[in-house]
Formats: sequence, structure tokens, C-alpha cells
Amino acid sequence: MDLIVRTSSNSKSIVLDCFCGSGTTLKSAQINGRNWIGIDQSEHAIKATIEKLEGVQNDLFVDKPEYEFIEI
Ligand SMILES: C[S@@+](CC[C@H](N)C(=O)[O-])C[C@H]1O[C@@H](n2cnc3c(N)ncnc32)[C@H](O)[C@@H]1O
Repeated sequence: MDLIVRTSSNSKSIVLDCFCGSGTTLKSAQINGRNWIGIDQSEHAIKATIEKLEGVQNDLFVDKPEYEFIEI
């Protein structure tokens, strides 16, 4: 997924995953300096995504995710 994100988007691009599941693509986007939007109909998937994104380590090259959670 990392390879796909890196080769199909540029730094600061927006990666949209309309079926974000457990958030693997969004995590890749975050680690590779992309902005991202994730959507999922499953509460369970959203919970898993948030946990995965919260697990991203802040370091010199990777920012901790800052995001807004919108529930519809
Ligand atoms: C295999 S997962 C996606 C994996 C994800 N793209 C990734 O990179 O980790 C499929 C997800 O699609 C979601 N889904 C299926 N139909 C949907 C719909 N109509 N609207 C929103 N999410 C949907 C499911 O809840 C499930 O979490």
C-alpha cells in the first residue's frame, strides 16, 4: 500500500479511501506526507482506523495525524 500511495500521489496530495476499512491506506498516506480522507459505513471499521492512526509515531519525518471525525 505504501508503494501505491508513493507512486500514485505527490507530497500534500489528498488520498481518498471511500471504503477505508481498518485504515491501512490512510496510515500509508499519513506516513508519506499526504493529506487523506477516509469514509466507512462501519462503526467498527472507523474505530479500528482511529486506533491505527493514533498509533502513527511522531518523528522527524512523520507528523502525528491531525484530523476531524465527522459522523453522519
Ligand atoms: C476491505 S475493507 C477496505 C480496506 C481499506 N481500503 C484499506 O486500505 O485498508 C472494505 C470496507 O468497505 C466498507 N464498505 C462497504 N460498503 C460500503 C459503503 N457503501 N459505504 C461505506 N463503506 C462501505 C466496509 O465497512 C469495509 O470496512
